[in-house]
Amino acid sequence: MEYCNILTRIEKPVARIILNREEKLNTINVEMVEEILDFIGSIEDDNDIRVLIISGGKNFSAGADVTTFTNIDSMKALAFHKALNSLALKFRESKKIILAMISGYCLGGGFELALSADMRIASRDAILGQPEINLGINAGAGGNVILPRIVGRGKALLMILTGEKIDADRAYNYGIIDVLTESENLSSETEKLSMKIAQKPFNASYLAKMAVNYGSELNIKSALEYEATIFGLLFSTMETKERIGNFLNKKH
Ligand code: COA
Repeated sequence: MEYCNILTRIEKPVARIILNREEKLNTINVEMVEEILDFIGSIEDDNDIRVLIISGGKNFSAGADVTTFTNIDSMKALAFHKALNSLALKFRESKKIILAMISGYCLGGGFELALSADMRIASRDAILGQPEINLGINAGAGGNVILPRIVGRGKALLMILTGEKIDADRAYNYGIIDVLTESENLSSETEKLSMKIAQKPFNASYLAKMAVNYGSELNIKSALEYEATIFGLLFSTMETKERIGNFLNKKH
C-alpha cells in the first residue's frame, strides 16, 4: 500500500509512524487511519521490531479533518468512528509497545490516538484537549471511553464538557502524559525510553502489556487469574529459564 498521509521508518528494534499532513495540522482522515492500520499489520509479526513510535511534527494532530464532515450522513460518520475504533483496538492488542511522542496541538481524534498508545511522551509546548463539544459532536475515537479510564470520570467530563485545551503540565498532573520533557529533549528522551523497553525480554514485555490492557477491563478476580496464567506461561520460554539461571549464577 502506498502511504500518502504518513511517513514510516524502521530502524530495528524501533519502527516509526510520522503523521504527514503537517500543512493541515496532521488532521486525520479515513485514508490516514487505513495507512496506520496497514503499517502496523505489516510489522506485527516481526518480533525484532519491539517499539512503535507515533508522532507528528510541530503538531501531533488537531484531530479529525472537519472538512471531511461536511455533508456526510450518519452511516459515513459511523464508518469513520468504526475505523478509528479499529485503530484504538489494534494499538491495545499489538505486540509492539506503542509510544505517542507529542508536541504542539494534540486535539480530538489526535488526542484519542495518543490515548490509545501504551504511553505518552510530550514536550512542554503540547496542548491537549477534547474540543468536539464545540462542534456539537462527541469524541470520535474513544475519548468518552478511554479518557475516563486514564484520568477518572470527573476530569474526563471536565475536559469533554468544557472542550477546553489543557497545557502539558496539567496533562502531566492528570496522568495523561507519562513523561514530560523540554522540547529540545523530546526525541532523545523518546529514543532512550524506546531502547530501554526494547532491551527487555520480548515475551515478558508483550505479555505484561496484555496483562495490563486486558486486566484493566476485567474484574480483579478474573484479572488476577489472567495474570497467573501469563506468569505460568512465561516459565515455558527458554529466555525466562536462561534469565533466571543467569541471575542465580551471577551472570547478569
Ligand atoms: N479539521 C480541519 N481543518 C482544521 C482543523 C481540523 N480539525 N483544525 C485546524 N484546521 C485548519 C483551520 O481551518 C485552518 O485552515 P486555513 O488555514 O485553511 O484557514 C488551519 O487548519 C489552521 O488553523 P487555525 O484555526 O487558523 O490555527 P490556530 O493556530 O488559530 O488554531 C487550532 C489551531 C488547532 C487550535 C484550531 O484550528 C482548532 O481549534 N481546530 C479544531 C480542533 C478540533 O476541533 N478538533 C476536533 C475535530 S472533531
